[in-house]
Amino acid sequence: MPFTANRQFKKAPRMFVGAKDMHYTTSDGRQVLDGTAGLWCVNAGHCRPKITEAIARQAAELDYAPAFQMGHPKAFELANQLVQLAPQGLDHVLFTNSGSESVETALKVALAYHRVKGEGSRFRLIGRERGYHGVNFGGISVGGIVSNRKMFGTLLTGVDHLPHTHNLAKNAFTRGEPDHGLDLADELERIVTLHDASTIAAVIVEPVAGSTGVLIPPKGYLQRLRDITKKHGILLIFDEVITGFGRLGTPFAADYFGVTPDIMVTAKGLTNGVIPMGAVLVSSEIHDTFMQGPEHVIEFMHGYTYSGNPIASAAGLATLETYKEEGLLQRGTELGPYWADALHSLKDEPNVIDVRNIGLVGAIELQPIAGEPTKRAFSAFVKAFESGFLIRTTGDIIALSPPLIVQKHHIDELVDGIRTVLRAIP
Ligand SMILES: Cc1ncc(COP(=O)(O)O)c(C=O)c1O
Repeated sequence: MPFTANRQFKKAPRMFVGAKDMHYTTSDGRQVLDGTAGLWCVNAGHCRPKITEAIARQAAELDYAPAFQMGHPKAFELANQLVQLAPQGLDHVLFTNSGSESVETALKVALAYHRVKGEGSRFRLIGRERGYHGVNFGGISVGGIVSNRKMFGTLLTGVDHLPHTHNLAKNAFTRGEPDHGLDLADELERIVTLHDASTIAAVIVEPVAGSTGVLIPPKGYLQRLRDITKKHGILLIFDEVITGFGRLGTPFAADYFGVTPDIMVTAKGLTNGVIPMGAVLVSSEIHDTFMQGPEHVIEFMHGYTYSGNPIASAAGLATLETYKEEGLLQRGTELGPYWADALHSLKDEPNVIDVRNIGLVGAIELQPIAGEPTKRAFSAFVKAFESGFLIRTTGDIIALSPPLIVQKHHIDELVDGIRTVLRAIP
């Protein structure tokens, strides 16, 4: 099983057999409140009729069209809708089937862009410690999670990493963006000086690092990265696989922070998690740079059999419509203060060493059990599931990201449930 403690799972399987709106149904007939939007992807809630009907209709009408040298209208419609939703300047879309594939695609676009421009010496990619960019070789190379990297040899060469921004000593229990840590963006200048700008293709970061436990950027940090990358002709890639589609109360984190990257990586909420799909958005400048040479020649040698698959495209269109009709991409702004108050009420519970929040994302960091890292949070996860709510844990951090249809009473239920769990576990 993917990213699962297989032996523990098989001793006591946790199985879902149904889902509706904010809840899952377990194989023993219990309702479980979804505190994580599945895996940060079911932003509109579960089994939404508009989306499921669009999928059924599309499957009966046009099930598949070759992705190479052929097209179908829904992929173009979805691309147009995405461009309208995205920050100004990100005008072109490449479809993929997952966050990991979107990351690989973005890194390849960055390398190829410089080469097509005649700057092939820009081969280096800069990621960040504690970054998560999926599980493929490019993604784990620029990613900064040791356990995801250490088994897999030399990875991509020519990669360097910014330091992460997590600093409990200075920023614990901050609401929103922390005050300390802007200077960590200046580490990029140090890296540029070390390698020379002429060798660096792109910097990739998650605007808010999700998978390593909700690491919120210090005030001004992303703008500083933007300024430095621009100054040196380096592309800035935002991995918005988690932060995209309303997670922070704006369509994208780029909108929340007022910083536009050159390339934006998305997946998950694009189709409400129902059908695998990702999308990479790029600026016109990048797109246009590739549009040269004889017209019968493929401009960018990359793509997947299922890129822009008709059923995924139909799901994406229905998802974006649902977000729009129900105002879901703004809910994180409306509910943000209530969410923050509820989460921070856990400050004095046993073993809590930090609470942090942004939009409809939250994290509760626990003091690890001495000599047994991750065990305390895993116990919380299992106990929570048994008590009727789904949370996600990473290391000793509980990460929360409910579907954007969440109501205040769900937030109360979730937070009170976590309080009870924290009091019950060792
Ligand atoms: C920021 C980020 N990038 C990439 C991925 C990989 O996405 P996938 O699991 O769809 O390959 C994830 C998944 O959680 C993610 O959070």
